Amino acid sequence: MLYPLPAVMVSVSDREGRGNIITVAWAGTICTNPPMLSISVRPERYSYHMLVETKEFVVNLTTEQLCFATDYCGVRSGRDVDKFKEMKLTKEKASKVKAPMIKESPVNIECRVRKIEELGSHHMFIADVVAVHADEAYLDEKNKFDLSLAKPLVYSHGEYYSMGKRLGKFGYSVCRKKSMSPKIAKSNDKKTKIKTKNKK
Ligand SMILES: Cc1cc2nc3c(=O)[nH]c(=O)nc-3n(C[C@H](O)[C@H](O)[C@H](O)COP(=O)(O)O)c2cc1C
Repeated sequence: MLYPLPAVMVSVSDREGRGNIITVAWAGTICTNPPMLSISVRPERYSYHMLVETKEFVVNLTTEQLCFATDYCGVRSGRDVDKFKEMKLTKEKASKVKAPMIKESPVNIECRVRKIEELGSHHMFIADVVAVHADEAYLDEKNKFDLSLAKPLVYSHGEYYSMGKRLGKFGYSVCRKKSMSPKIAKSNDKKTKIKTKNKK
């Protein structure tokens, strides 16, 4: 029930350099300094052995335009298809890791695995971010990187969405402007207990 989430395309490769892509929603930033993130992957995924073998991967952020490919890479296995080829995605050489980057993605985050936590259904790959690449097409008029220009993809309850309207910016709640007062919808104080079910 922790939604919405990013749905990212994680690119991996085996020792021989054969690349693959797996869509991952169980992903997140876990530390600023040192920069670290995690992805959680089921051992039965084809990509899993590649992650364990090479201990490297690239997180490729997704956009509205990449929605179809994101879904495809999350429902087809690299055991059966070449997802780069099928989705016409371009392999780009990463700077620090052997896994290829996806050229069409606006941001590529190169990662090296530090620790694997065998949690249960999913094993969590805790990784250091070793390089980040951002497409200059998404620089705003002040030459600042603006990911919203790339129209990021959001994943919520099994469905893909584009982002909605901008509501504020970091720290706006403590700004002095009058217009920034809290607007909270009234709840009727009733909550339903929802049965948990495994989706991914
Ligand atoms: C939106 C979405 C999110 C997903 N998130 C995860 C995830 O976090 N972890 C995981 O192991 N599988 C996840 N999956 C399933 C895998 O991407 C899927 O099983 C994929 O076919 C595995 O590819 P592979 O066999 O080539 O490794 C997700 C699928 C979709 C469509």
